[in-house]
Amino acid sequence: MSNYNCLWMLIFIIGTFSRENLANYEYDNSAPFAGSSRNPKLVWNYHPIIDLVSQTSGKTNGYKETKNDDFFAFLRDYYYLPDGLKTPLPEYDFIIIGAGSAGSVLASRLTENKNVTVLLIEAGKPEMLLTDIPALAPYFQSTDYTWQYYMEPQPGVCMGMLNERCFWPRGKAVGGTSVVNYMIYTRGRPQEWDRIAADGNYGWSYNEVLKYYIKSEKANLDGFEKNPYRNRDGEMPVEFVPKRTRLVNAFLEAGKLLGHPTVDYNAPEKLGFGYVQATINKGHRQSAAKVFLHPHKRRSNLHIMPETRATKILIDPQTNNAYGVTFTRNGIKHTSHVRKEVLLSAGPIASPQLLMLSGVGPKNHLTSKNIRVIKDLPVGKTLYDHITFPTLVFTLNTTRVSFNEARVMGIRYIFDWLRDGDNDLSSPGGVEGIGYIKTPVSDDPEPVPDIELISIGGSILSDGGPKGSKAVRQGIRLSNKVFQEAFGAVDNTDSWTSLPMLLHPKSVGYVELRDNNPFSHPRMYGNYLTDPKDVATFIAAIRHIQELVATEPFQKFGTKLHNAQYPKCKRLKFNSDEYWECAIRTVTATLHHQIATCRMGPASDHRAIVDPELRVYGIKNLRVIDSSVIPRTISAHTHAPAVMIGEKGADMIKRTWNMR
Ligand SMILES: Cc1cc2nc3c(=O)[nH]c(=O)nc-3n(C[C@H](O)[C@H](O)[C@H](O)COP(=O)(O)OP(=O)(O)OC[C@H]3O[C@@H](n4cnc5c(N)ncnc54)[C@H](O)[C@@H]3O)c2cc1C
Ligand SMILES: *[C@@H]1O[C@H](CO)[C@@H](O)[C@H](O)[C@H]1NC(C)=O
Ligand SMILES: *[C@@H]1O[C@H](CO)[C@@H](O)[C@H](O)[C@H]1NC(C)=O
Repeated sequence: MSNYNCLWMLIFIIGTFSRENLANYEYDNSAPFAGSSRNPKLVWNYHPIIDLVSQTSGKTNGYKETKNDDFFAFLRDYYYLPDGLKTPLPEYDFIIIGAGSAGSVLASRLTENKNVTVLLIEAGKPEMLLTDIPALAPYFQSTDYTWQYYMEPQPGVCMGMLNERCFWPRGKAVGGTSVVNYMIYTRGRPQEWDRIAADGNYGWSYNEVLKYYIKSEKANLDGFEKNPYRNRDGEMPVEFVPKRTRLVNAFLEAGKLLGHPTVDYNAPEKLGFGYVQATINKGHRQSAAKVFLHPHKRRSNLHIMPETRATKILIDPQTNNAYGVTFTRNGIKHTSHVRKEVLLSAGPIASPQLLMLSGVGPKNHLTSKNIRVIKDLPVGKTLYDHITFPTLVFTLNTTRVSFNEARVMGIRYIFDWLRDGDNDLSSPGGVEGIGYIKTPVSDDPEPVPDIELISIGGSILSDGGPKGSKAVRQGIRLSNKVFQEAFGAVDNTDSWTSLPMLLHPKSVGYVELRDNNPFSHPRMYGNYLTDPKDVATFIAAIRHIQELVATEPFQKFGTKLHNAQYPKCKRLKFNSDEYWECAIRTVTATLHHQIATCRMGPASDHRAIVDPELRVYGIKNLRVIDSSVIPRTISAHTHAPAVMIGEKGADMIKRTWNMR
């Protein structure tokens, strides 16, 4: 069906939702929850957008292959095995587990050579029309396009969230997390990659990784693309967002007044502020699948299997050779073997989980879960993440300045977006500006930032008010009660916020198995804010944001800090350091950059899982190629780094096997 017909179907569908049906959502806490991997049930009552999104993403019903078996299948992209093939082949050169940011580019580069056969296994579904709408980014976090992971309960963080647990959604789609993310394009600072190389990771210095960032990039950035560290001729579009509010200009102007120049924030030379650069094309999301898989779906040497779950990597215990993968599709178990290598690209939670299920991990831990140990390695023992405090809300005295869901979720807006791609729906969840700062708390001798500021053309108040979808507050699982007490009075009014992202946390988490069932969620521990320096850095960042807001560019909108009364912080003086610590511990949110669970390092590094060529120590023909190998914290959202790792991984494999 053509896009045009799809559009009319969509309009018809939206039209059938009646505005009278709007009602409040509630959380249903009746399901057993604490300590188990079960999710609390979310009950959405007839919100048209949420209903649409959740219906289109389908039901979780075993692992059935969807061939037009649900109503919205016609809006979805599709990937089938070549004609005449009912099951995958018994043998391939390579099997890649996970079609995410890294796995997609890896599959595309390896199959450039027609002699090389690749099987790409992905648990999720292909993307669809609605996932292309950047403004809907927050809406997919409660659908089947995400793994509904929760961190284990940890005292003193996420106190204002449902069941006091932090929500860790990750993408489950052909395209992986790049199908549901916020599309922010960042690379990390030169010093950070140079430090990774200096640890003994040969080939990973800034200049060496830059080559691979450049390789994939197709930049369209008002002249920046002509800079030597950028590229106009790659595959992955990087653009400025077509639609912005005036608030981002206030952010940049205020930044200049406080000594932060407006720059290309991905430039290696200096720190500064800038408009967000996003992986979109004319206002449409460009996931790793759209860029690297969709154009090559007819390659006969690339077999892509959506809705297929890998359950084990087969490793010969005598030779330690990885020789195949077991997976489940349509409720049926299959095994395929490799002539060359198994490549694990399942992301920072599932990659360590699969390694451990396959006998590679901490010896005592595996033994306690009745798993035969093939190689004792500290898999999952290190986990860094980027967290933020998302509810530093500033109200404005001026109306219709910020984004607001209620204004844009009409049929006409979707139609305009499809045609021109430049209305409010093109904004990636309201993200408009990025700024790097170094707070006084930092003791880094080099010009490496410790905080990234993300300027939003709105805030947690902008998701539609009492009658809206509440998708943003839902996306972090903020409790309804906490929201009402802290923000009920100003809900749905014009606002601005900046999210401070803690770039180099001192607190270190870990991930381990719950049990040896491949369908269980592993146990995840962020250990957030366990180091006092992390709290101090956040408070310093909040003070800096307040200084920005005090300048004329913000004051002309009557920008004012909202006095949020969080239930657990009521006895503390508003705006004191103690109040802010309590607030941060109440609304602690991840920006979903978990890394280092399969960290890379030289042989001398007792915390390393893979070597600098991403080969798992002690196992032959097995590499991990995704964001889980990043060994140190970097000043970057992790999609572009994961794509870079996929590019670099593909080159290393080609060299190993003498492929062109
Ligand atoms: C809500 C959200 C917003 C984000 N915003 C940004 C942003 O704006 N900018 C940015 O740069 N980064 C962002 N990120 C982070 C970024 O998108 C991810 O770090 C990046 O996509 C990770 O790439 P990856 O290749 O390591 O893993 P993924 O892209 O997560 O890919 C792993 C894939 O493996 C599949 N898989 C897992 N287990 C199995 C199995 N057993 N069998 C088969 N398949 C399996 C998964 O379904 C998934 O598709 C965001 C993340 C989230 C969750
Ligand atoms: C593919 O294999 C054939 C036969 O072995 C060989 O002649 C050809 O050069 C190979 N092509 C590539 C691109 O490697
Ligand atoms: C908002 O506040 C600013 C600064 O106090 C003032 O100049 C402006 O006129 C106000 N705007 C409105 C619409 O009240």
